[in-house]
Amino acid sequence: MKNKRQFFRKEKESRKEEIEIESIVWGGKGIGRIKGKVYFVQRSVPGDRLLIKIVKEKKDYGEGEIEKIIFPSKERVSPVCKDFRNCGGCQLQMMNYRAQGEAKEKMAKEILRRWTNSAKFNKLISMENPFEYRHSGDFHCRFSNGKILCGFYEKESHKIVDFENCHLFSKEFNQKLKKIKRFLESCQIDFVNSFNLSCGENEKEFVASFYVKDEKIEAEQFLKLKDEANLNGLVVNGISGKKILKDGECFLSYSLKRKEDVIERDIKFKIDAESFSQSNFEMNSKLVEEVMRFANLSSYENVLELFSGIGNFTMSLALKCKEVVAVEKSDTAVEDSKFNSTLNSIYNIRHLKGDVKEQTEKLISASAKFDCVLLDPPRSGAFEIIEKIASFNPKRIVYVSCNLPTLERDLRKFGENGFVPQEFSFFDLFPQTYGIESVVLLRNENEKN
Ligand SMILES: C[S@@+](CC[C@H](N)C(=O)[O-])C[C@H]1O[C@@H](n2cnc3c(N)ncnc32)[C@H](O)[C@@H]1O
Repeated sequence: MKNKRQFFRKEKESRKEEIEIESIVWGGKGIGRIKGKVYFVQRSVPGDRLLIKIVKEKKDYGEGEIEKIIFPSKERVSPVCKDFRNCGGCQLQMMNYRAQGEAKEKMAKEILRRWTNSAKFNKLISMENPFEYRHSGDFHCRFSNGKILCGFYEKESHKIVDFENCHLFSKEFNQKLKKIKRFLESCQIDFVNSFNLSCGENEKEFVASFYVKDEKIEAEQFLKLKDEANLNGLVVNGISGKKILKDGECFLSYSLKRKEDVIERDIKFKIDAESFSQSNFEMNSKLVEEVMRFANLSSYENVLELFSGIGNFTMSLALKCKEVVAVEKSDTAVEDSKFNSTLNSIYNIRHLKGDVKEQTEKLISASAKFDCVLLDPPRSGAFEIIEKIASFNPKRIVYVSCNLPTLERDLRKFGENGFVPQEFSFFDLFPQTYGIESVVLLRNENEKN
């Protein structure tokens, strides 16, 4: 028999309520209010009238699961992917693409407006085809009864969704993925934890990087896999980080096209598959153009670029200014950036390999001066180096971010240091997901004119 506590818990868990969804928040859940209290609901669309089962009840907020769609939002559509219900790869496939854009724009404004009353917000730049845009993906692997499970994790869990076909990748990419899965299964290679598959802009090169639990692998097996899946290059790493095998052409290539006023000429990139690269090349071109518009460089100006990676922005910046000092900690990315500068005959880049904090401290000690600072940090943001950036007293700062909450936190700190947002632009680099890429131009309040 249930005790009193269990009975009340069960009652509370199965409580059902009606709710109207107002907007989408960071993470992709919809929110609405019940008696003034906020509830989060996965896979809900602004405008939906829902019956939800309350699954979490906290003092300030709650969470619900959809029991029934009483009245669907006019923006609701059937998801293209049959695995959408479970897979954590996408969050917004149940909304039409225009509504996804509107919801993301609204979310960005709500998060960023808090510190930026006077800034201009530009409209989100969307994609023409919001599917098959990704050139890189990380896939988890596990064996169950001799069968391989391979794919993204389920939402908020470590269960693998073993999809047949992911609509975020091209048909050719999916075929390669299938070949790798089939090979791992037929050879019962059950010690691969995860792998990354990446391809270049024209899908001419495919490179796979495996992360294995057992570091005593048979190289022969992986070399056979490279041939059977027709991969250009293959890397095998131990999960401890030890490099076990690197074979073939482990490079990917893409390009930026000349764009009058902002990108001086066509730029080619060749990058190591192990370096960070933007996974949506089509939108990346637009992103670089906007960064260049915000940077608005003159030929006599000096630029500091932090988190410069393989030189994605560096090359365009260097073509427009006197010198770029590019700071990046990854060995392969710095090598790629140097290679790309030679490939494009660009010689006014000074590469500093190392942590941004240490490198900016050294630059401060050397009394370096910069007219413009560009930063493109990972998701964790750049909180620790904001005072250091401010101490260069640049005329302009351009901040590229893939994470709205850390961007919001960092903008507050920039504000305390005299740099205020002047203009925001947004790019849909990750359609069907809640992700949004932001570019912000910050003005130096101490600068005259
Ligand atoms: C979001 S990526 C941007 C790269 C480049 N801007 C691009 O568009 O391809 C962030 C980069 O910062 C580098 N990084 C991360 N933490 C760093 C740190 N503490 N110091 C220096 N570089 C860092 C990563 O290796 C990565 O290349």
